[in-house]
Amino acid sequence: MCGIVGYIGTRDAYPVLIKGLKRLEYRGYDSAGVALLNGDTTIYKKKGKVSELEDYVRGKETKSTIGMGHTRWATHGEPNDVNAHPHQSEKGLFTIIHNGIIENYSVLKKTLMDQGMKFYSETDTEVLANLIEYIYTSEDVSVEVAISLALQKVVGAFGLVAISSEDPNLMIAARRSSPLVIGLGNNEYFIASDATPIVEYTDRVIYLNNDDIALIRRDELILKNLVSETTKVNIKTLEMSISEMEKQGYEHFMLKEIFEQPRSIMDTFRGRIQTETNEIRLGGLLDVKDQLVNAKRIVVIACGTSWHAGLVGEYLIEDLARIPVEVEYASEFRYRNPMIGPDDVVLAISQSGETADTLAAIQLAREAGALVLGICNVAGSSISRETHAGVYTHAGIEIGVASTKSFTAQVTVLTMMAIMIGKEKGLLSEQRFSQLIKELYAVPAKIEKILELNDEFKRIAEIYKDASNALYLGRGVSFPVALEGALKLKEISYIHAEGYPAAEMKHGPIALIDANMPVVFIATMDGSYDKIVNNIQEVKARNGEVIAIVTEGDTIIREMADHVIEIPKSDESLVSLTAVVPLQLIAYHIALMRGCNVDQPRNLAKSVTVE
Ligand code: AGP
Ligand code: GLU
Repeated sequence: MCGIVGYIGTRDAYPVLIKGLKRLEYRGYDSAGVALLNGDTTIYKKKGKVSELEDYVRGKETKSTIGMGHTRWATHGEPNDVNAHPHQSEKGLFTIIHNGIIENYSVLKKTLMDQGMKFYSETDTEVLANLIEYIYTSEDVSVEVAISLALQKVVGAFGLVAISSEDPNLMIAARRSSPLVIGLGNNEYFIASDATPIVEYTDRVIYLNNDDIALIRRDELILKNLVSETTKVNIKTLEMSISEMEKQGYEHFMLKEIFEQPRSIMDTFRGRIQTETNEIRLGGLLDVKDQLVNAKRIVVIACGTSWHAGLVGEYLIEDLARIPVEVEYASEFRYRNPMIGPDDVVLAISQSGETADTLAAIQLAREAGALVLGICNVAGSSISRETHAGVYTHAGIEIGVASTKSFTAQVTVLTMMAIMIGKEKGLLSEQRFSQLIKELYAVPAKIEKILELNDEFKRIAEIYKDASNALYLGRGVSFPVALEGALKLKEISYIHAEGYPAAEMKHGPIALIDANMPVVFIATMDGSYDKIVNNIQEVKARNGEVIAIVTEGDTIIREMADHVIEIPKSDESLVSLTAVVPLQLIAYHIALMRGCNVDQPRNLAKSVTVE
């Protein structure tokens, strides 16, 4: 998803901007550009990668101590040099970069064209630039007021940075639903869509809230709302480190993040399981614990991999805590006029904390009076601030577009929630509680053992890298794992893959089975083991190729599957934390062998902040 970097201070701005845009590349984009203000405003922008922009600018004039950069993820107008940001108003008085969507841009554009204003791009962003200039010139107001008045007319989402030759020592940042964070230096300020371009310069940051507008000069920052009322500046301290962001010797961020899972799971449960008192303490939920424990229903809202984690949560919470759970795609929930009310607990799950559909679903749930909780991986993110309470996953920054460690960290939180509620409701004996906690503690070491099989996963990947389709099957809590394994394969290797409940195969997908269709089974020892053995035989009877994730020591499936991956035995409730790891690595190796961009798959973005 698009990225923004802004700088005003005493340094040469251009190097800060280019380096910042590279830090944001993981978000996904199709074009990039910079604007530099030094008397005049100089703009360089191009379709393609940041490195191509850098090559284009090399040798050109870049001297300036105030500027901004943008990586675009096109919503209005194809990716090309003209539609790339920054966009300038017709007379060049204002230059802006924008993340988000101006939903009423066509009405605004028509009004401005009726006033004789000219447009050169197809974007909604250029409409905003011209609207600002139109208000500035026709109403004779200040730069700041013109921008505020223009934004009051906007319907939609914006993360916006603007500069103007009319006030060359002022940078303006404003946000609604598309995140912006401001880093505070000594007589210098850094603006970005997230903290990754900022962390090497300062750990003092301000997260803009919806309809905040920041007026930034080298020696001062003033925060206002869109009706020009000054608001309080709330400075936070960044917890992220540079080293977390670097690849630390791994070829890709995704591989690093897969291998970080033993630590990220441990970091997520560390300090929350009190072994001496035999209890689970989720600090962020203490104030709402009673409401949660006595909830009549929990509605999970999420997207993508987070939705899969929510599905695991459904199985665990219903099994251990006996509370009905519904798992909804946030994008469907928000538009289908759902039955939701004050008796419901809504649980929003999001790695980025910025997913537009999930944010909108949260808003709907809050308006309906539900208690809205969040599970997020980014401190200070919009979802963490829009929910009544919540639990952070401590997975650390996840840069690979394909979610891996955030999935297992989300499942870890959901597991702790299920166990905590079950115990509070007296449904779990001390003995069962202790056993589950012991199993949870043992997960990191089990994943370490699985990671040692990486060469085995590479060997399997080599065999199936040219497949056109794949089927992932599982039962019970392994069904969401099957969905997640299929999503990993399709989103980074571009091989079509589907996840299904194993028993559903005979209701249709079995027609797909032939020698060219690899079928991945999550077939660990659990209550439905015998049934899944039957499913494997049904596939083999039709010449399907079977890759089976089994429990260490399994001798039955080894006799029938084409490839067997043994993982350490674990409690049925926790198997999703270990069984997913082979699927992550098989997808990673296949994608690599197919020459795909593993960290930045085509068309995808790390955080989908537009609808
Ligand atoms: C998963 O690998 C994808 N990156 C995508 O499905 C992602 O899970 C989804 O966009 C939700 O993102 P969030 O967790 O940041 O809300
Ligand atoms: N809607 C704007 C455009 O299409 C911004 C897209 C983005 O968020 O990058 O140019």
